[in-house]
Amino acid sequence: MAKKVLIISTSLRGGSNSEILAKECERGTIEAELDVEYVSLKGKTIQYCIGCLVCQSKGACVLQDDVAEIMDKVKNAESIVFATPIYYYEMCGQMKTLLERLNPLYQADHKFRNIYMIATAAEDEESTFDKAYNGLQGWVDCFEKASLFEIVTGGGITDANEAGKYAEVMKKAYELGRGLANMFVR
Ligand SMILES: Cc1cc2nc3c(=O)[nH]c(=O)nc-3n(C[C@H](O)[C@H](O)[C@H](O)COP(=O)(O)O)c2cc1C
Repeated sequence: MAKKVLIISTSLRGGSNSEILAKECERGTIEAELDVEYVSLKGKTIQYCIGCLVCQSKGACVLQDDVAEIMDKVKNAESIVFATPIYYYEMCGQMKTLLERLNPLYQADHKFRNIYMIATAAEDEESTFDKAYNGLQGWVDCFEKASLFEIVTGGGITDANEAGKYAEVMKKAYELGRGLANMFVR
């Protein structure tokens, strides 16, 4: 059976650069004949985690919004690619909020093992993406069966709809998707 890949694009911007790269990654997974699902947070209602921790005893969140559907996809995917714009040298707030809301998965029998990141930023310094990557690493560290792998970075990309002009980064995003076929569940 084809491996399940979930790509979550978290930018809400029209003509989002990280979304362009996420779509390119999806194209790679399709060429590799993987079973891929693509989710954009655009138009989704995602409330903040209120920290009640009811999920730890009940296994489900008390908040009723679009997270339940996304959580089900996250739980059942083997590989997950998160795409985010860099905001203040971190992942964007909506991605962080989503990660926090996925807390019910903490004790769940989730299938995800391999986590990846795609990020775009106006700057292109060596350290531009470090905090966002480390932030996602913090989430991944809480799921002992999961590991954080590659990050595809699109630095120096500011205006909307620009990412497509960066052939090298587009190729990396495509190859990330295609290469997921070689990953295995450990
Ligand atoms: C609120 C906000 C904060 C940002 N902070 C940074 C930053 O700290 N460093 C940086 O290089 N770019 C920063 N940017 C620029 C975006 O990362 C850049 O435009 C990126 O391509 C946006 O990706 P998107 O089109 O997928 O939303 C910021 C943009 C916004 C709107």
